[in-house]
Amino acid sequence: MKNQNFADRVINYDSSVLAELFIESSNPANTSFAGGYPDQQLFPSADISAAFARAISANTPGIFQYTDAKGPVALRSILAQRHTQRAGVPITADDILITQGGQQAIDLITRLFINPGDGLALEGPTYVGAISAFESYAPTYYEIPMEADGLNVDHLEAALKANRGANRIKLLYTIPDFQNPTGITLSTAKRQRLAELAVAYDFYILEDSPYRDLRYRGEELPTIQSFDTAHRVLFVSSFSKILSPGLRVGYLVADHEMLGELAGLKSANDVQSPNMTMEALADYLTTNDLDEHINKMKPVYAEKCHAMVTALQKYMPAEIKFTEPEGGFFLWLTGPEGLDLNKFMHDTLLPEAHIVFVPSEPQYAVSKITNCARLNYSNIPLAKIEPGIKQLATYFNAYLAQN
Ligand SMILES: Cc1ncc(COP(=O)(O)O)c(C=O)c1O
Repeated sequence: MKNQNFADRVINYDSSVLAELFIESSNPANTSFAGGYPDQQLFPSADISAAFARAISANTPGIFQYTDAKGPVALRSILAQRHTQRAGVPITADDILITQGGQQAIDLITRLFINPGDGLALEGPTYVGAISAFESYAPTYYEIPMEADGLNVDHLEAALKANRGANRIKLLYTIPDFQNPTGITLSTAKRQRLAELAVAYDFYILEDSPYRDLRYRGEELPTIQSFDTAHRVLFVSSFSKILSPGLRVGYLVADHEMLGELAGLKSANDVQSPNMTMEALADYLTTNDLDEHINKMKPVYAEKCHAMVTALQKYMPAEIKFTEPEGGFFLWLTGPEGLDLNKFMHDTLLPEAHIVFVPSEPQYAVSKITNCARLNYSNIPLAKIEPGIKQLATYFNAYLAQN
């Protein structure tokens, strides 16, 4: 039980879903479709290690010293150039704040906009770590259902229209590219409409896109930020999925006024991100071709994704529907209404089959829907995917027959 002297915002990490998933997915006895980890075979560890050695031995100016709360200019300049090219938004180093992973960017942006009770719109389902960050700020949630082409924008507009008072929506959190957890991608038309709605209804958009570079099929779509003419979109990304989560480097791109405030909040929180890591990353990005590395990873993940989809098509009962992502790390299972996949996993799947996935309930901020689950394919060895899904399907068949 929580110590009564702790503040309301304390969520008791040890009993949280994230802590449980970490333990269960790291247990080698389990077949883990949980977690959101990259494939560890793909970390360019020698190149990263060489970059650290070079940056430190060259005593890159100031590497042992404090730096700007926004992060060193060398790294921000490289990222600004990349964002200009890849996201279609012309920016400079001054428009970027380096954060400790995308997670810190989500936290800082929520801190900037959300007082207790303020409206925060988010996808249902969404990234469970974002919900953990949001909880501290006690927002009023507006859960927007997902469709095959991303969040239901009509539903969002209706919520914007209906709530113009104290609980009006100030911030929309969306993951447009290969969403965690569904793998769904937001259509171009919806991206443009969101940027327009933000102006019409006076709210801001947190565009969280750590999987954007990991597209395995289809055409790349423009960022929401590229449609933004009024500084309404804050774009967040990270090196966790394309390089290594151990770096803990993410970044956000926002208008100057907001960026200054966010740098102040970051400074109050951790002064700055580790300078040695940031300078080593700048060295890595200067001496290596990041896109070449990404292009090496993509076929590996594409093959795993394909293996999972093919196995699901072959073995899963017809009542279980699933998404077929064009990129990212996850796909989404939907069973018949009324099914409780949290209970199924804890009572049956985990103890009997040692299979773990992420049940849907904690991934919905409001509706706590129970008949869906997230499956991860990035971190499991390719050879384990088909037998794992086959076994999962056997258990689903038995479970559906009883329920
Ligand atoms: C959608 C999304 N945003 C943000 C993050 C946070 O990642 P990191 O803090 O490692 O950059 C994750 C990690 O799983 C994620 O899936």
